[in-house]
Amino acid sequence: MPKISSRTDAVPLSGIREMMDLAATIPGVLRLEIGDPNFQTPRAITEAAFDWASRNRVGYPPNSGLMELRKAVAAKVGRVNGLACGVENVNVTVGATGALYLALLATIEPGMDVLVPDPGWAGYPAMVGLAGGRVSPYPLSADGGFQLEVGAVERAITGRTGAIIVNSPGNPTGVLFARDELRKLLDLAARRDIWIIADECYDEIVFEGRHHAIGAMEAIDSSRVLSAFSFSKTYAMTGWRLGYLVAPAAVSRHVTRMQAAAVSAASAVAQAAGIAALAGSQGPVAEMVEAYRRRRDSAMALLDAAGIGYVRPDGALYIMVDIRGTGMPSKDVALALLRDCAVCTTPGSAFGAECEGFLRISLASADADLVEGLGRLAAYVRARATAAA
Ligand SMILES: Cc1ncc(COP(=O)(O)O)c(C=O)c1O
Repeated sequence: MPKISSRTDAVPLSGIREMMDLAATIPGVLRLEIGDPNFQTPRAITEAAFDWASRNRVGYPPNSGLMELRKAVAAKVGRVNGLACGVENVNVTVGATGALYLALLATIEPGMDVLVPDPGWAGYPAMVGLAGGRVSPYPLSADGGFQLEVGAVERAITGRTGAIIVNSPGNPTGVLFARDELRKLLDLAARRDIWIIADECYDEIVFEGRHHAIGAMEAIDSSRVLSAFSFSKTYAMTGWRLGYLVAPAAVSRHVTRMQAAAVSAASAVAQAAGIAALAGSQGPVAEMVEAYRRRRDSAMALLDAAGIGYVRPDGALYIMVDIRGTGMPSKDVALALLRDCAVCTTPGSAFGAECEGFLRISLASADADLVEGLGRLAAYVRARATAAA
């Protein structure tokens, strides 16, 4: 066999996938590891997609997306995110994953550093590697409540830094970044002439406080911010693979050509679903966010009663449980929970060094699984903490 490309070495296996693969070998495991909503896609969205596919010739869509959807996206980001833009700024993509990857391809040269949050979503290091960039973590520290601290970002910048990825509310902590700090980040990026790639995939899953889109803080066509959004979490549409990138028109044009080369376009049927999602009642979104809030509150109450610490999430789909009292590495705790208690979680170490000592629990899991799984986790952590004391 000829040599396999060295590019494959630049793409590490995600720590979440590793836990999922292990869990798949154990029957009856409670799955608390993944941010995949346990809700059905709202019926009106599914029906609109079916209707569209039955009535239209399902041919190739334009590389940048169906015009009707791009118009709906431009209206949505104006209305919900305060980000004034036109269709020339919008590319419909294969999930936020597609949007983030294209954003990297459009902005960094091979060998450049990309600053990624630590802790942060495990997808970032993999896609930075695939784009030929070098991963450079900036800390969101446990002591600082995992908030963005622009000073820490500044210290991580080098002469090779091409882009900074920012995610609020963030995976895995659910922490919302303060408006002032985001403003300062934008000023820093302007001073050092660096792109900002904002991952806004949880923009509408907020329990308290306000989400601020950093891309809304300057005029789009003179902006250095590229904003990636997703239908996955907001509308329980993870498998439809639909998202969008909002960027200055001068960048968007290149993104369209790169998307044409990479995947041609997002599925036309998924795009029809996206049109219905944005045009239809937002009631189901509010109901799902309310369910996540209830799950968050019951998780916090359960952990409070057990005397176990956690990071209070402002939004997104996760709660980080503090397991430092066990004195064990988070991966060992996650593996023991899987093996001995049939509960699958994600170790903090899967998201970077800063949240070693935490486990991530997904609020996208069914209510009963969440309560039962957290109960088993609490019993295990307390027993180990007592043994370690
Ligand atoms: C922070 C973050 N960004 C992006 C994604 C990927 O989203 P999508 O399904 O739209 O590709 C995820 C999925 O879990 C995520 O947590």
